Amino acid sequence: MDVMSTDDAAYLPTIYVVTNTPKRREELGGVLSHFFDLSMFDTTSKAGESLTEKTPDVVLVEIELTRKGGLNPLLTSAGGAEGDHPPFIFIGQKGESFDALVTEFGETSRYLRWPITARKLIDIIGELISKGAEESWDELPDIQKKPLKLTIKEYKNIATAIERGEPIDYNSAAKSCAPVAEAVLSGAHHDLLNSVQAHHNYTYVHSMRVATLLTLFGYGLGMKGDNLLILSTGGLLHDVGKLMTPPVILDKPGKLTEEEWPIMRDHAVHCAALLKAGDDVTRGAQIIAEQHHEKLDGTGYPKGLKGNELNELARISMICDIFGALTDRRSYKEAFSVEKAFGILESMATGIDQNLLAIFKDIFISTKPLEQAAGN
Ligand SMILES: [Fe+2]
Ligand SMILES: [Fe+2]
Repeated sequence: MDVMSTDDAAYLPTIYVVTNTPKRREELGGVLSHFFDLSMFDTTSKAGESLTEKTPDVVLVEIELTRKGGLNPLLTSAGGAEGDHPPFIFIGQKGESFDALVTEFGETSRYLRWPITARKLIDIIGELISKGAEESWDELPDIQKKPLKLTIKEYKNIATAIERGEPIDYNSAAKSCAPVAEAVLSGAHHDLLNSVQAHHNYTYVHSMRVATLLTLFGYGLGMKGDNLLILSTGGLLHDVGKLMTPPVILDKPGKLTEEEWPIMRDHAVHCAALLKAGDDVTRGAQIIAEQHHEKLDGTGYPKGLKGNELNELARISMICDIFGALTDRRSYKEAFSVEKAFGILESMATGIDQNLLAIFKDIFISTKPLEQAAGN
């Protein structure tokens, strides 16, 4: 499942925008508000005041304003240049020199010049949020830190390989997934499913969550060792085809148009092709990548396979993929509760293997820590 719309309140990272140019306010507000929880300020002192009470994920500042209102209100409230402040994005005019700012804010902030496209700005904000998330993982216990750190590194390598037209290195992906299985065996999978969501690379977050869910499912079904690792790795790789989908479609907040849907669906074809061209890819991972969007009643894609054409692996892939997508946080939707997600899967009576779904539900809920089970 790729895109869900919902009335639930959306989870959005918080961004402060400090500008007093009406045109910029309109431009930035219009685009960024789809992806972030925006607060606009027309002076650095007003932004500074708010910074003493709240820490946004990123602060975007028009340099012109720092000249008029001075940088000090921002710096002081953010704990000084050396302080533990959120990352800043400074935007200046063409030919702007950033030397003084770099001395103050160093490399944790970004320095840009107009003109800059909204897409580029969204990417830079996302990159800063993700960097913060990756750093925050350092504080987690090893059982969570290890799988997160290794798989994000691997996912970036995979993205680079695809960009360069190089084959995916399956063995390297499998190596990064070994700690996912360790986390499941130690019962840390619910924590892992939560902590990965701080990251802003949604395709990675979703893939890592599907890897964890598939591993949990397999473990619950009695799988071990290499078989379990195939599930983890297949999960991490199942949506690599999305790395070829145009970001305007992949990250579109809201519903896709009739013209956009086929392009989104093509990711399943790309997934199959990328894995086929990869080195040492296991048959199991290939099935997960090729068939996670098929349905038992033939309404799925890309091939519209049906009934017996879909083996147990394909069936558990669909369940984990849909359950993962429903319980993921997106920029335009809060995560569905576990209960609601299972309710939706149960309503897909002809498309999803209901016997396997009942087994998965039992495994998932029975391994949930008590306070989380009560919360959902
Ligand atoms: Fe997919
Ligand atoms: Fe998926």
